[in-house]
Order: sequence, then C-alpha cells, then structure tokens
Amino acid sequence: MERIASRLLERINGFSDEHGVCGMLVGSAARDTWVSGEHDIDLFILFPESTERERLEIVGLLIAGSVLSDAERIEERYAEHPYLHGVVNGYGVDVVPCFNIRDPSKIKSAVDRTPHHNSFVREEISGLEGDVRLTKQFLKRAGIYGSELKIHGFSGYLAELLIIHFRSFMNLVRDAVDWKPGEVIDIKGHGARAHENPLVVVDPTDPGRNVAAALSLDNMCRFIDSARNFLEDPKIEFFFKAHQTPPELGEIRELLHKRGSVLIGVQFQKPDVVDDILYPQLEKMERSTKKLFKMHDFRIINTGSIVSKKNIYIIFELFDRELPSVKKHIGPPVWARADAERFKAKYHEKKTLSQIYIKNGRYVIEIERRYRTPGPLLREELSKCGLGKDLRDAIREQKFQILSKEELLTKSDHEVRIFIHQLLTHNDP
Ligand code: UTP
Ligand code: MN
Ligand code: MN
Repeated sequence: MERIASRLLERINGFSDEHGVCGMLVGSAARDTWVSGEHDIDLFILFPESTERERLEIVGLLIAGSVLSDAERIEERYAEHPYLHGVVNGYGVDVVPCFNIRDPSKIKSAVDRTPHHNSFVREEISGLEGDVRLTKQFLKRAGIYGSELKIHGFSGYLAELLIIHFRSFMNLVRDAVDWKPGEVIDIKGHGARAHENPLVVVDPTDPGRNVAAALSLDNMCRFIDSARNFLEDPKIEFFFKAHQTPPELGEIRELLHKRGSVLIGVQFQKPDVVDDILYPQLEKMERSTKKLFKMHDFRIINTGSIVSKKNIYIIFELFDRELPSVKKHIGPPVWARADAERFKAKYHEKKTLSQIYIKNGRYVIEIERRYRTPGPLLREELSKCGLGKDLRDAIREQKFQILSKEELLTKSDHEVRIFIHQLLTHNDP
C-alpha cells in the first residue's frame, strides 16, 4: 500500500511546477489506522488558497484523472465538488482536490479540513492505532461504520477522535454504556456550539464543526447497546460475524404464516447513480410510501429496501390485507368557516355512506374508500408520491412491478429472501 501510495503521490507532485499543487496522503493509510481487508488510499491534491473554485474543479479532475490513468473502474464522486475514485492493484483510491488553507476555521470547501485532521491525528495517535482498529472493526460488525448517507454511522476520523479522547477501546465502551442523546465530547475543551445531533464530538481542528453530525440516533443507540452487550459477555463475535447458514424458503414461509401479516413489494430498475445520491432518495421514497399507506388507513409493521446489482426492491409488511369499504373522512374544524363551506359543498352531491356529522369540533363524513387492498393503491398512486429525481425517472410511466409475497419469496435474486427474513426477525445482518 505504501509503495502504491508514494507512486501516486509522485504523480500529483509532477504537476507542482505547472499548477502549484502538492500531494498529500491522508486518511487511515497515513495514520496506520486502516483495517485489514479494506484497501482505501486517500490522496489529496492541495491547491493554493487563492485558486478560483472553478479552476480547482477543472484542473483537479484533470490531475486526478492522470494520477489514476492506469486504474480500473474510475468513478466520478462528489463531496462539495467532484473527485475521482479508482481501483489500483486492488486498492480503492480516492483522489480529492482541495484548497490548502492554513486556518481551518476559514476553509472554502468541506474537504479542506481533511489535511488538518491528518496533522492532528498524526500528532496524537501514536501508540493508540491498535485501539482505533479494534473500534473500527467493532463498529463494522455492528453495521454502523461509515459516515456516508447509506450508513449514517461513525466515520474513521470519529473513531480516531474517540480513541484519542478515551485512550483505549475498553475505556470507550465503558463510557458509552451511559451515553444519552445530547452527549458532548470536547477533546480540546473548546466549548461546544449548540447542535441538533444526538452525539456531538467537537472537531479539535474546527470547533464549530460536529464530527458526529452524520450519526443517526438509532446508530448511536446501537453502539450504546452493543457496548453494554460486549461488556456483559466479551467475545470475538462482537468483531466478526459468526457463520450463518441462509434461511431456507420453508423457514421463511412458516415465519410469515405465524405472523399472519401481509407482505408486498415494489421492484424497479436501479438507476445508474452513486450511493450518496441513491440512498437519500430511497429513504425519501420509503417515507412517502409509508405516508401513502397511512393516508389510506393501511398500518405498517416493517419497511425496508434492498439494492441488488440491477434492481431495487422496497418491501412492506402490513397489518391489513383488506380494509372495509367504509372510510372515515375527517374534515375541517367547524370554526374554519370558509373550509367548512367548501367541505360541505364537496360532499353534498357525492354518494356517501353517512350524513356529515361533528366530532371533536370537526366535520366528519363516512364515504366509500377507493383502495381496499394495498396492491392497487401502490399501482395507482406510487408514481404521484414525492420521489427524488432519479427514482422518479425509474418509477414513472408504471415502469415498476408490484410483487406479492409468493413472487418476492421466489425471486431469483436470492438475497431478497434473506433480506425478508432479516426484515421480519430483525436478526443481525
Ligand atoms: P475516509 O472516508 O477514507 O476515512 O476519509 P478514513 O479515516 O481513511 O477511514 P477508512 O479506514 O478509510 O475507513 C478520509 C479522510 O477524509 C476526512 C477525514 O479526515 C478522513 O480521515 N473525512 C471523511 C471526514 O472528515 N468526514 C467524513 O465524513 C469522511
Ligand atoms: Mn480512507
Ligand atoms: Mn476514502
């Protein structure tokens, strides 16, 4: 890894006369905190502070392209501006242009902090590298390692800061068992600005910034819970998954029979976009579909989505197979006069199942419902839901399929079956 990194660094530095740039190895490879089996090399191209942003983007990509000229699978990715990712001799390599800014509180782009993180960690981490690696592996096993939008977990830099603060993995987990939302960790005693996030770790290189900003409440809680379980019964399975045989089809069928619930899925083609674009849109789609079901009185037990090579499946477990024909429609409060008049006018000519009546200060009417089963509801209404751009393109014009329980279980993408088992049992991934 060192050999490849220094070869690529030299290539960046080859542009120093022409463009005033210099290369820097950052991230876990520069700090000896990487975990075996993960091969990621982070190279930064530092541009002089005075460089125009547009120039940095154009020249940055140009240099990155030349650094990765013999790489396979080059991909343009985005932080605040584009950078390149490629695979060189089996190592994933990020080549990221940034501004070289001395005072980290005056950065011009979010990635400009990284060289400062690098010097801070390099100065503080000596002797603690093993504990960082333990922490990362523990987080990975719990499925909460990574600050990307797919995971909403702990970044590598966050793991390093936690170890710099607590001095060992054991101290960290012993402290975490008592964490509550609102926990603040302030290594340098800078004083924390108010943040909304459940965990606040003040960036020692830029006190206004919360290093744990990407961490979700549930993933923070998963960490607290894993820490407690680990201390109760420390064993290797907290770092590495025990071998599991995938569930048999019959086992899942029996499980579904026992639960007596309804399983329904939507399948569509995976759009060709990077994870940081795809996953937020997928979350949005799950949210708006949940809202759609709720609006039509279907109660949800579990929802989840799975992305396979070519397809995306969103799967719902519902309480209700079929709703009665009658639907209770709640209207405006009586004192909202204009709305009240509109409501009355609207239901005056319609075929209804009751008179308009008043309950808790609001008009109510009972009418015939439009969708008594979930399938037709999805077929008709899904494409009208709030969807991100790329998923809207994949969904519109009925380019999606609705799958019944049987169709889901017998999909040739057998990961779908494993996913359903997980969705229903909440077994470890
Ligand atoms: P990486 O995502 O490659 O993380 O970001 P890492 O620290 O090298 O950890 P692993 O071992 O690859 O998983 C490289 C650097 O970019 C900055 C950090 O300084 C990090 O070390 N970074 C990245 C952040 O500050 N925040 C992020 O969310 C991601
Ligand atoms: Mn890295
Ligand atoms: Mn990286």
